[in-house]
Amino acid sequence: MKVESAKIAIPLLGVLLWVLSIHAGIFSDAGTLYLRLPFHGGPINKNAISSTANKPEVLNILNKITVGDLNDTVNFAENVIRFLKRLENNLLWSNIKVSDGTPSHGMLISFGPDKEALDRGKEALIALRATSQLMNTYCGKLSKASGHTMSSQECSKLLSRFSFHGTPLEGACIALESPCEKGQYQSDYRSINGSCNNLNKGHRGESFTGYSRLLYADYSDGVHELRRSVTKKPLPNARTIVSSLIKTDNKPSKKATLALLQWSQFLEHDLCRSATAVAIHTDSPIECCSQEGDNLSPRFMHPLCSPIYVYDDKKYAQEGVSCLSFVRSLPATRADCSFGPADQVNQATHYLDGSQIYGSTHRRSKQLRSFNGGKLATSQSESREYLPLSRDPTRDCQLFSANSTCFESGDARVNFQPQLALMHTIWYREHNRIADELSKLNSHWDDEKIFQETRRIVIAEMQKITYGEWMEMALGKTAQEHILATSYNSKTDSSVSNAFATSVMRSLKSLSDGMPKLYDEDRTVNESIFMRNYFHNPGLLRHRGVLDALTVGLATQPSQQLDIFYADDLINKLYTNGKFGFDVLSFDLQRGRDHGLPSYMKFRQLCGLKAANGFSDFLDDMTEEDVLALQQVYSNAQDVDLTIGGLLEKPKEHSIFGPTFYCIVADQMLRTRQGDRYFYDNYAQPKPFTRNQLKEIEKITLARILCDNTDNVKHMQKRVFEKVSTSNPLFECQSEASIPKLNLNHWQEDESNSVVSF
Ligand SMILES: *[C@@H]1O[C@H](CO)[C@@H](O)[C@H](O)[C@H]1NC(C)=O
Ligand SMILES: *[C@@H]1O[C@H](CO)[C@@H](O)[C@H](O)[C@H]1NC(C)=O
Ligand SMILES: *[C@@H]1O[C@H](CO)[C@@H](O)[C@H](O)[C@H]1NC(C)=O
Ligand SMILES: *[C@@H]1O[C@H](CO)[C@@H](O)[C@H](O)[C@H]1NC(C)=O
Repeated sequence: MKVESAKIAIPLLGVLLWVLSIHAGIFSDAGTLYLRLPFHGGPINKNAISSTANKPEVLNILNKITVGDLNDTVNFAENVIRFLKRLENNLLWSNIKVSDGTPSHGMLISFGPDKEALDRGKEALIALRATSQLMNTYCGKLSKASGHTMSSQECSKLLSRFSFHGTPLEGACIALESPCEKGQYQSDYRSINGSCNNLNKGHRGESFTGYSRLLYADYSDGVHELRRSVTKKPLPNARTIVSSLIKTDNKPSKKATLALLQWSQFLEHDLCRSATAVAIHTDSPIECCSQEGDNLSPRFMHPLCSPIYVYDDKKYAQEGVSCLSFVRSLPATRADCSFGPADQVNQATHYLDGSQIYGSTHRRSKQLRSFNGGKLATSQSESREYLPLSRDPTRDCQLFSANSTCFESGDARVNFQPQLALMHTIWYREHNRIADELSKLNSHWDDEKIFQETRRIVIAEMQKITYGEWMEMALGKTAQEHILATSYNSKTDSSVSNAFATSVMRSLKSLSDGMPKLYDEDRTVNESIFMRNYFHNPGLLRHRGVLDALTVGLATQPSQQLDIFYADDLINKLYTNGKFGFDVLSFDLQRGRDHGLPSYMKFRQLCGLKAANGFSDFLDDMTEEDVLALQQVYSNAQDVDLTIGGLLEKPKEHSIFGPTFYCIVADQMLRTRQGDRYFYDNYAQPKPFTRNQLKEIEKITLARILCDNTDNVKHMQKRVFEKVSTSNPLFECQSEASIPKLNLNHWQEDESNSVVSF
C-alpha cells in the first residue's frame, strides 16, 4: 500500500510545485479566471523531483556513473541500431514498402521527414536505446537505494541528469548549445529556420528541435514504449475508441464559419509538423500493414511500427481492412542533450512566422523564391497566379490522373485539401502584391531587401489575424485581453508544447465539414464536393471561378462544432486510394501515445480542474451520456487519452474549447507571443516597426486579405470567422472605410540615409 501511494504522490507533487511556481505573481486573478492556467508553461521544472531522488544512497550510485560508462552505453546502443540493417534490407528485398497513391503514401506526404530531421532523429534513436540500457543497468540499484519500488518514469527522470558530453553523441549537444554570431542576433529580420531569436539560447524554437512538454513524458518503460493503463494492461485500441465514441452526424456551429477551421489548420501548419520515422539505414519509408490493409507477418514488422489493428469494425469489415499502418514519429535530441524519455521533433519553426509559406529551412526557402523583385515563384493558369507546381507530383500528391495538379509551398501538407491550398495561394498572392508595391515605393531596394521587408509585413499580418481575430473566436475576449497585455520576455520559452501540437491542434479537425461547398458571389450554394476525392489532390483550384467560390464558402458555410462528431471522410476515408482510407482520429490517439502524452486526467489537473478519482468526477465538465460512453471503453478513468477527454468536455463560455484544451491553447498562445523577439509589436527588436507602420498593421483583417487576393470576390463580412448577420454585415471589398487597407506609404524609405520617413 505504501508503495502505491508514493507512486501517485510524486507526479502530483511535481505538477503542483510547477503550477504554483508558475503562477506566483503572474496573474493574481488567475485562480478565478483561468482555472490556474499554466500560463508561463514551457518545459517542465526538472528540479521538482521527488525527495527520495536526493537521498545520499541514490546520489552515491549516480555519482559513480562515469563518462566512460555513458560512452560504453552509447557505443553499445549504436551496435544495436546497426543490427537493424539486416531487417531493413530484408524489407526492401521483400518489397514491403509504401506504394504511390496508397493511404500510407498520404500519411508520408503529410509527415515525411526532411533530411535534417532524419540525421538528428538517428542520433536521438541511439540515445533512446542507450537510455534503456542505462535503465537496465541502474534502475534496480537505484530503486533499492531509494527504499521504494521506483517507477520507470522516476528512474528515467534520474538518468536524464546525464548529458551526452564526452560520448559519440556529443555533436548533438554542440548543435543545440553553440551560440549564434552577434550579427545574427542583430539581424533586422527573423531567420528562416527560427534560430537566433532567443538571445540566451540561439537554437530555441529552431526547426528540427523537439517539442517542449507541459508534463513529464508518460511511456510505459520510461523511455519510448507506448503508455499503458494504470492497471499495466494495454490501453484500449485507438480504432475501437473511435468506433465506439465518435459519431459522424452534422453538428454545425451557430456562429463560426469554416474559415475558423481553415485558419486553425493554417496556424497548426505554421507552428508544428511532426516527422514519421523511415528505415534507419535505407531511408525508405516504413509500411506496417499490407497494401490491402491486412496484417503483416511479424518478421516484416519494423520496430518503429505501431499499427492500429481493427477488430469487429462495421466500416472496415466491408473493405476487408484489418490493419492501419502507423509509423512512430522521429524523436528529437532532448533540449538539454540528455539521456531520458523520447521527445519528438518539430520540423517547422516553433514561432508564428509564416514558415508554412516561406519554408523552415534555407534550402526550401530558396526553392520558393523567384529572386526577382522580392517575389515568390508562382505558376500561372488562365493568367492568374497560383503556387508553384510540384516537380514530382506523383511523389508529393496522391494523383489519379497524370494531368492533376500538385502545388509546392513552405509546408508539405499544402495539398492536404483544396481549401488549405487556397489559403496558401491567397498568402502567396499577398506576398507578391506587397512586394510589387514596396518595389515601386523603394526603387533602390534589391530583391533580398524587398523579400525580407515583405515577409516581415506578411508575418505581422498573420500574427495580427491570429491574435486579433482567431483568438477571440477560439478562446474568447477575456483570455485574448490577458494575452495581449503581456510583452516580450527573453526567459519565456516559446517552443510548441507536445500536447498543443499532438492533441489540441489535431482535434480541430472536428470543425471540418466532409462536404465543402462552392458558393456564388450572392452567397448561394453552387456545388458541393466530397472531401474524400480531394486529399492531396487540389487541382480543381485552378479551374476558373473555383478559388473564389471556395473562398466565399469559407466565409459562409458553418464550421462544425469541436466535439466527438467528425466528418465521415476523415474518420473512414482519409487519404483514400478509392478502396479504403485511414482514420484521422485513430492516428491522433495513437500519435498521442507515441509521443508520450500523459492521460487526460493529468492534464485536467494541471489546468486546475478537479482531480478526479473516478469517471463520475468528469461530470462537472462532460454530459452524463458521454461519461457513460467513456466508461464503456476505458476500464479506468486515469487512462483516458487527452484528445478524447478534451473533445468530450463541454465548451467554456465564449470559447470553442472545453477547459483543458482552452488552458493548453492559452498557454501556447501566450508563450508564442511572449517568447518571440521578432513578434510584430515588440519594440525590443533590431528593427521594430515604426508607430505609423504598426497602426497600419493593426488595421488588417482576414477579410481584407481575402478581398485583395481572390480573383473577383466583391463582398466580404468584416469578421470572416463569424457568419454574416446584422451585426456582421457584408461590405464591398472596394470600401476601404469598411474593411480597412494597409497603407504601404509608411514603408517608403529615403534613399540617402535609409531611414524610414514618418
Ligand atoms: C568513447 O568511445 C569512443 C569509441 O566510440 C572512444 O574513441 C573514446 O575514446 C571514448 N571516450 C571516452 C571518454 O571514454
Ligand atoms: C539556421 O539559420 C541560421 C541563420 O540564418 C544559419 O546560420 C544556420 O546555418 C541555419 N541552420 C541550419 C541547420 O541550416
Ligand atoms: C490533360 O492536359 C492536356 C494538355 O493540357 C489537355 O489537352 C487534356 O484535355 C487534359 N486531359 C484531362 C483528362 O484533363
Ligand atoms: C457555378 O460555378 C460554375 C463554375 O464552377 C460557374 O460556371 C457557374 O456560373 C456558377 N453558377 C452560377 C449560378 O453562378
